[in-house]
Amino acid sequence: MVRVQTIEEDSWQAPYSDRQQEEATGVIENGGLLFFPRLAFTLSEAERRFLVPDAVGQKVKNVSFDIRNGTLRGSALEGADAAALRDMLERYARQALALVRSLLPHYAPTLEQARTSYRPVEAAGRTTSWRKDDTRLHVDAFPSSPNQGQRLLRVFSNINPEGKDRVWNIGEPFEAVAQRYLPSIAASSSGYARLLRALGITKSLRTEYDHIMLQMHDRMKADKDYQATAASMQLRMPPGSTWIVYTDSVSHAALSGQFMMEQTFLLRPAAMLDPSRSPLRILERMVGRALA
Ligand code: SIN
Ligand code: FE
Repeated sequence: MVRVQTIEEDSWQAPYSDRQQEEATGVIENGGLLFFPRLAFTLSEAERRFLVPDAVGQKVKNVSFDIRNGTLRGSALEGADAAALRDMLERYARQALALVRSLLPHYAPTLEQARTSYRPVEAAGRTTSWRKDDTRLHVDAFPSSPNQGQRLLRVFSNINPEGKDRVWNIGEPFEAVAQRYLPSIAASSSGYARLLRALGITKSLRTEYDHIMLQMHDRMKADKDYQATAASMQLRMPPGSTWIVYTDSVSHAALSGQFMMEQTFLLRPAAMLDPSRSPLRILERMVGRALA
């Protein structure tokens, strides 16, 4: 059973007590979710025009924004419309950061803010390859963006205008997934990792950690038997709600839902309250050597 801690705040910068901060940090570090049923990301009247699936370009599932350089990608819009959409994503980026800073201040000094995304396409039945099929249980790992052991902490908000929930399944704990797949994952080649880097296929060096995480991601998704039989729990996140979860360790599947905002943060395991709970340290204990 995954632990879901409900927090009844409706402000992105609520004053949290030390005890609330410590408890919330412990919940996510131990594979749980923080769920804010009343914390809404509100669109302006003008922004509601973006609540259509073709706000994204063809064959793209998300619009993304990178606050580190101000660029918007994946949008089908141009000129003033693109600028207005970028402003909407930037506001989400700022609110998500404010939330994480106020509730998880332990992370604030070293937290890195990565991509922000807007997902206007229905998650159910998107025609795509099995590897990109997020309706299958998986832990997050990205082929071109190795994170070398850094945590993927994500904030999500359902902004569906028609009352439609975002429906997820949450699978078994990270250790159980790793125990199932790790024994059959072959060692990576450091020459191959350097080649991928030299060719620009990866943005930084794919470490042994990244190799294992990608293999776990792929094997889980490709394993029909696992998808059909793994223990899981369904969660429904209604419009107007927000949730925070470490998606590199919490096995998840997005079954259905449309119109969602998402912010990714990167965090070094050493910045956690309990670094031994990171996938990097868990995998290192299992294989008995350093992986990143
Ligand atoms: C995912 O991270 O697998 C997708 C989450 C979602 O689209 O709800
Ligand atoms: Fe995912």
